[in-house]
Amino acid sequence: MTQKIALVTGAARGIGLATSKLFIEQGWKVAMIDRDGDELTQATSAMTDGKAFIFDVSVPQQVDQMIDDVLSEFGRIDAVINNAGVADFLPVEETSFATWRRIMETNLDGVFLVSQAAIPALKETKGAIVNIGSISGLRASTLRVAYGTSKAAVIHMTKQQAAELGEYGIRANCVCPGPVKTKLAMAVHSTDIISAYLDAMPLGRYGTENEIAEVILFLCSDKASFVTGQTIATDGGFESTGVGLPALRK
Ligand SMILES: NC(=O)c1ccc[n+]([C@@H]2O[C@H](COP(=O)([O-])OP(=O)(O)OC[C@H]3O[C@@H](n4cnc5c(N)ncnc54)[C@H](O)[C@@H]3O)[C@@H](O)[C@H]2O)c1
Repeated sequence: MTQKIALVTGAARGIGLATSKLFIEQGWKVAMIDRDGDELTQATSAMTDGKAFIFDVSVPQQVDQMIDDVLSEFGRIDAVINNAGVADFLPVEETSFATWRRIMETNLDGVFLVSQAAIPALKETKGAIVNIGSISGLRASTLRVAYGTSKAAVIHMTKQQAAELGEYGIRANCVCPGPVKTKLAMAVHSTDIISAYLDAMPLGRYGTENEIAEVILFLCSDKASFVTGQTIATDGGFESTGVGLPALRK
């Protein structure tokens, strides 16, 4: 059997680390990308099938070098998981252009750059792209003008990628997590935000990193061979519900 290779960005911790571990469990080798060299080195120190590549996905020259290095190491790429992301929750009027750009650089530019640089390798393998959006890209809320807009753009970019790359056998899908207790989420989820989430979600709890990773794995697997251009909210039902859920609970 051919050894499959996944490239996971933002792999040093959180959803990216859980995804890397799940792919490895399933027999893949993983190119684990992160700009936080210390955390990535620590995360990969005991791994044999996950290799660290310290790069920033928002810098075009670094992305080109990253793809070259991954191909020199592994010779192929079967799946690209664009997971690296940053968040900042601020009112529209207080969101500086510098903040806006900082969010867009990683969440939007990074997805564009990494996917584009990986296209020649993905053509060879008829591989898959999974972009990580967010419930914040599906439903607007307060304080997310930059973050939510970046994620809504990622959802649309996924459809653009699916439309153009399908003729090469490349599939592109988007996973939109609901709240998961990672470092990113805990830095921006106040106590009020946490209880608002719990109230608004049919399953009434935060998700785990592994629950998101399982959906990503499915989309990269042959089981999803006819699935492309789709967005899957992995969010405890948050996206599907409107107002009134707490009042309807017994
Ligand atoms: N945790 C949640 O509740 C939640 C909800 C919806 C969507 N998401 C999305 O899931 C993804 C993963 O988030 P997480 O919660 O695991 O966050 P996290 O902060 O735990 O991990 C993100 C990782 O990405 C890395 N990273 C950030 N910018 C980078 C860049 N430019 N280049 C390379 N690496 C970079 C960080 O160093 C970090 O290791 C993000 O795209 C996030 O927006 C998370």
